[in-house]
Amino acid sequence: MMNQTMKKITIIGSGTMGNGIAHLFAQNGFQVNLMDISEDALSRALKTIEGNLDRQVKKEIISQQDKADTLSRIQTHTDLKQAVSQAELVVEAASEHIPIKLKIFQDLDSLCPSGCILASNTSSISITKIAAATKRPKQVIGMHFFNPVPVMKLVEIINGYATSAETTQKITQTAQTLGKVPTVVNDYPGFAANRILMPMLNEAFYTLYEGVAGVSEIDTVMKLGMGHPMGPLQLADFVGLDICLDILKVMHQGLGNPKYAPCPLLINMVEAGHLGIKSGIGFYDYAAGNKASIVAERFRQ
Ligand code: CAA
Repeated sequence: MMNQTMKKITIIGSGTMGNGIAHLFAQNGFQVNLMDISEDALSRALKTIEGNLDRQVKKEIISQQDKADTLSRIQTHTDLKQAVSQAELVVEAASEHIPIKLKIFQDLDSLCPSGCILASNTSSISITKIAAATKRPKQVIGMHFFNPVPVMKLVEIINGYATSAETTQKITQTAQTLGKVPTVVNDYPGFAANRILMPMLNEAFYTLYEGVAGVSEIDTVMKLGMGHPMGPLQLADFVGLDICLDILKVMHQGLGNPKYAPCPLLINMVEAGHLGIKSGIGFYDYAAGNKASIVAERFRQ
């Protein structure tokens, strides 16, 4: 059922998460303004959304008409003022760089209608800190989606220190309207999802780094022994090793416990530009289309 209170949504950022979030809202009847500073990024995003809608048509999850309707509900913008002038909800999925994020929220605060809720898809930056950059902290909240957004059922909703109960209730209802399962958590480093996921991924990096097992062995253990859809090293490549490192740093610094210290192997790989799928190489080699355990081989030399 269509959400009665909010229909006009602006998504900031058209990368993997932003285009997935735009796809999801548009598919569920919302009018979506997708904003990015780059025209190229926006046209790539539309192509990706179209490709992912085609997947759903092929699987008979949606019809060709649903696909056309979904695409017709998405408008792209490079001008923030235009993109948010009528927004009832903004979901920000842009840079995870703190100064950039705070500036985006300051701008959103000054340009969005006064009743508009400002949500962030951040995976690691404090919602309380983001909210403090605005004059509407009660209306700032975390709305954390999971990749691939059209598929993963969870929305982790993060209450900042000042988030109002009304805002939480609206966002919870919105997530349900999208067919997702909202889970409300409090604002501490890593929130709940990454607080649990990242130490597991980090332990997988250490298991490789200390020579306990190779890449494919580690992933096989978790896929076949624990029923995970992807092994932890494959999942880290999928999330992006730079993102994993950023989240672990936030947790290490914010929680002050050495158990969250990022594995030196992860740090080296990020410094080498081996970021996973997005750079063509991580624990696996995607550019060559081959899933050889390159890091493990290096460790065995
Ligand atoms: N858009 C739409 N549909 C998609 C899609 C996309 N981008 N990607 C995959 N799908 C659909 C496929 O069409 C397929 O549909 P059916 O089930 O109806 O057949 C389904 O998803 C499964 O896809 P595939 O058959 O291609 O591949 P798969 O079975 O190997 O599943 C996967 C792929 C869903 C990604 C699965 O491997 C998985 O669940 N992996 C774990 C993903 C995960 O943990 N994500 C969270 C990462 S953490 C994060 O995002 C947040 C953070 O803060 C770090």
